[in-house]
Amino acid sequence: MQPFDVLQAQVEQAVKRLVFPREPRALYDPIRYTMEPGGKRIRPVLVLMACELFDGDIQEAMHAAMAAEVFHNFTLIHDDIMDKAPIRRGQPSVVHKWNADVAILAGDTMFASACGYLHHLDVAHIKPVLNIFSRTAVEVCEGQQYDMNFESREDVSIDEYMEMIRLKTASLIAACLEMGAVIADASDKDVENICEFGRSLGLAFQLQDDLLDVYGDEKAFGKKTGNDIVTNKKTFLYIKAFEIAAGEAQSALRKAFGNTVQEPGAKIAAVKKMYDELHLREHAEQAIGEYFSTSLSHLDAIQTPAENKRMLRNLAETLMQREY
Ligand code: IPE
Ligand code: IPE
Ligand code: MG
Ligand code: MG
Ligand code: MG
Repeated sequence: MQPFDVLQAQVEQAVKRLVFPREPRALYDPIRYTMEPGGKRIRPVLVLMACELFDGDIQEAMHAAMAAEVFHNFTLIHDDIMDKAPIRRGQPSVVHKWNADVAILAGDTMFASACGYLHHLDVAHIKPVLNIFSRTAVEVCEGQQYDMNFESREDVSIDEYMEMIRLKTASLIAACLEMGAVIADASDKDVENICEFGRSLGLAFQLQDDLLDVYGDEKAFGKKTGNDIVTNKKTFLYIKAFEIAAGEAQSALRKAFGNTVQEPGAKIAAVKKMYDELHLREHAEQAIGEYFSTSLSHLDAIQTPAENKRMLRNLAETLMQREY
């Protein structure tokens, strides 16, 4: 299997080859603005890696890889509207640079384009891949809705949170691996295992994102840190904090979170101070480690030589150490 950076470079080339018309500019400029600098390109690389693992045709899988990446970027554009996020990948978010109307339509166009790429797959793969893709897109929307519902709830449990991130984040990561494996005609058992690998990795990935939202370096992270605190997101850190805080600490936490008149910086500092006192960072890191090791056990169960899976394992390890 080719290493991450080689596949990532192939993804970059394929992104450059995607055709987005020039007019109307207000529709296509924000799409290019999002797609061209791009992010880490993890999802399309996962599609390609899964396909290579089972000796499939990478050229064919690239169509599914593009579908996944364009779809992912669409979800980010809409997510920034929902999360009132001013910065994405170190530059103003589409909603901030243009407005919500522009962000909605750019996103819709990307979703429709992403579906279109799947028609270039071999005929035998179109049906199963389209099935995975549409099911996943619905799951992401369900997850996003739970994420917003939870903003105004105080009694969200860790289980509910895990289900929410399974839907909004882990499902797409799992689907990328599943699509790659299906395109390579892997066995049902291997498809199931690579999918489970992706699901656990996706859970660890979102837990890590929530952690970076509080403790990351804003410049490296490329997003406004503390935004989850400002928008009352029920992250693992938040829920766990209430679970372990007792007495005075719990009412102080409630006060810090409930205080909407405070300016955002002061709210972030107050909540972060309490997270520090409750060692939330360590709790989150422990949970991340647990989901990560579960993911590796599914990777181990795939019926291919361990050497062939090394790049997937390396990528998973790198993701756990990431700063952005
Ligand atoms: C961001 O995903 C959204 C989450 C699921 C946390 P990435 O961190 O993969 O974003 P980019 O594409 O690399 O910017
Ligand atoms: C992302 O969750 C989920 C999506 C499906 C887009 P977040 O809202 O935490 O992602 P970021 O931090 O904005 O990238
Ligand atoms: Mg969000
Ligand atoms: Mg967000
Ligand atoms: Mg986040």
